[in-house]
Amino acid sequence: MKKIAIGSDHAGYELKEHIKNVLMDMDYEVLDVGTDSEAPTDYPYFGFEVAKVVADKKVDAGVLFCGTGIGMSVVANKVKGIRAALVTDLFTAIQSRRHNDANILVLGGRVLGKGLAEEIVKTWLTTPFDGGRHEKRLEKILEWEKEHFK
Ligand code: RB5
Repeated sequence: MKKIAIGSDHAGYELKEHIKNVLMDMDYEVLDVGTDSEAPTDYPYFGFEVAKVVADKKVDAGVLFCGTGIGMSVVANKVKGIRAALVTDLFTAIQSRRHNDANILVLGGRVLGKGLAEEIVKTWLTTPFDGGRHEKRLEKILEWEKEHFK
């Protein structure tokens, strides 16, 4: 994973800025779709922007931030091909990559401290998908999407 798209609303802005610096320190190329301040805004725009570039494979993965992470998860998981994981602990960060091959990580700016968020991001980005028995489960999701999405 080399290129990461990030996005937040106002409630996730501070954590997004922190994680952006962490990612750049790790030599990731970062595409930041906004928001650019703590002025109140609406999370769907930024969530869909990140989900689109991840689904279109213009980046390798995405990280989204809002207050709880719930709104961004709902938005991102509406997009075909997206497997967004709302993560608050390291075990889930690992499992969301190993078992679910999550392609977007979602974090709650009002839930997580910066230190834990940083560890979650580093762990998530460096944990590979296990494949094997999990492949057929992901294929079932893809089949459903093919049948029901335009
Ligand atoms: C914004 O107040 C807040 O509702 C939003 O950031 C998010 O937590 C929604 O799920």
